[in-house]
Amino acid sequence: MNIKEALTQIVSSAFSQCGYEARLGGVAESARPDLCQYQCNGALAAAKQAKKKPIIIAEEITSCLENDDRFSKIETAPPGFINITLSDKYLAGLLNTMSGDSRLGIRKAEVKTVVVDYGGPNVAKPLHVGHLRSAIIGQSLCNLARFLGYNVISDVHLGDWGLQMGLVISEVELRQPNLPYFNAEYNGEYPKEPPITEEELSEIYPAAASRAKTYSEFAARASRATVELQDGLPGYRKLWEHIREISISSLKRDYSRLGVSFDKWLGESDAGKYVPKVLGLLDEKGLLADSDGAKVVEVALAEDREPMPPMIVVKSDGGDNYAITDLASLLQRRSDWNPDECWYIVDNRQTLHFKQVFRAACLAGLFTQSQCTHYGFGTMNGKDGKPYKTRDGGVMRLSELIASVTASARAKVELSSVEMSEQEMADAARQIGVAALKVGDMINHRSKDYIFDIERFLATDGRTGPYLQYTTVRIRSVLKKAEASGFIPGEILAPQSQTERALGLALLTLPDTLSRALNEKAPNIICEAMFSIAGELNRFYFENKIISCPDSSIRSSWLGLLDLTRKALELLLGIIGIEVPRSM
Ligand code: ARG
Repeated sequence: MNIKEALTQIVSSAFSQCGYEARLGGVAESARPDLCQYQCNGALAAAKQAKKKPIIIAEEITSCLENDDRFSKIETAPPGFINITLSDKYLAGLLNTMSGDSRLGIRKAEVKTVVVDYGGPNVAKPLHVGHLRSAIIGQSLCNLARFLGYNVISDVHLGDWGLQMGLVISEVELRQPNLPYFNAEYNGEYPKEPPITEEELSEIYPAAASRAKTYSEFAARASRATVELQDGLPGYRKLWEHIREISISSLKRDYSRLGVSFDKWLGESDAGKYVPKVLGLLDEKGLLADSDGAKVVEVALAEDREPMPPMIVVKSDGGDNYAITDLASLLQRRSDWNPDECWYIVDNRQTLHFKQVFRAACLAGLFTQSQCTHYGFGTMNGKDGKPYKTRDGGVMRLSELIASVTASARAKVELSSVEMSEQEMADAARQIGVAALKVGDMINHRSKDYIFDIERFLATDGRTGPYLQYTTVRIRSVLKKAEASGFIPGEILAPQSQTERALGLALLTLPDTLSRALNEKAPNIICEAMFSIAGELNRFYFENKIISCPDSSIRSSWLGLLDLTRKALELLLGIIGIEVPRSM
């Protein structure tokens, strides 16, 4: 149950009972927790229409509710606030209901089918840290939406169709010209084994890119190869398949280390076959215009305040470009999955691109504007404030980044006084390193840039992943110790202290937290809630001797509260993709 919704219902009916509009009864968390737990400001809004002082209206409402035993206090504060404090008995009842429910009282949302486009790695180019944010934010949003009942289709949308493919093909051709892929006369079977290894591939792309920069002839050849590949030249197609396969297996390995996975491994190439159809749709509607040998769609609107250039859909060399590919993949998504919404978790720097694509999709009649949304994110920067790089100034690959955070975590794990086997240490180092990385990222609103600082992210105190893991490990260990003495979690009783009450209230926010995070596509809301729950838990833990409490009903109530806290943290950690080590 969403407590704010429940209180809103109660207060709204009081408003209508007193002759005011029910919609004025909205209840929010208190802006003054020292005075009350929740508040309603509806009397202020009602005053004008009713031509009464807000405080008078607030008094009418509070006197209507003052005998309600769900509240320990409901009172007015000038100029017309209604301040609400729950009764401890009501609070305990709500916590017990939550604890007894496998979904912790969190209802499913209205069912929708959504396609989530995230990851967006490019074949042949290594996965770099820019793809990190897309992967972890996107995966969290998928997990969240699934938990809330959505039908989610996640698609990695591989970059496997652009110039990088022509560059790699041309570079291989230059190095091994005698391979059958490059012989136009060849009509035998192509080799089953790829002509290059994963390692070679990772070296070939940068080599080809720099060659293209120096030699315009090579660059032209790579562009030609791209168009020929897109036109289906059999040798190129076969070589491309090999390159794609090598790339996908290394991508899957990197992603699985991060707990990221996709339902669909479609790519720009799969959109390729929808390009003619989508161009046909645009043409039918008279939306295609010629511009210097290219074809464009005019997507500007009268209300635009910023320049909105036309979207190029066919380049002058005839190749498919990024924009038409995205438009074609919207057609594929509509035809195959008919989703209610499409979410794109892609770098902020692509904002203009997505505006153009979504407007064109709308003009072509594929989706309405509100169905497709780009949820952008900022950059992960180094301490110099510039996009994060390796020590020698190169682009840091994701696999290197994961290896380096795991090594830093390992150094900490080795200092721990807890006995661990080699396997446990290795697992803990990976889990802690990834948690540090993820929370370091997702504690920030996705649209913001942030500074990567692994030492800070790894601290077990502060707003970090390891702190949340540590808190969960602590709760599990108290529960285990208690169980060993025969004490098990029982019914949660009315709180005895302010810290216990605060922990209960923090737990009550769970349903609201998840629905806000989903509405705003903001995993940082989940992180904030975890820090507030973990903070209250730790205060409660330090204030009370739980296992040695002499009163058995209080002890079992406290264990019940701890157990509910554990379930809440585990749920939230699971959504943002954090595993909890066995010990740390
Ligand atoms: N491959 C692109 C890049 O690395 C990102 C793809 C994002 N998704 C999309 N549908 N355009 O920049």
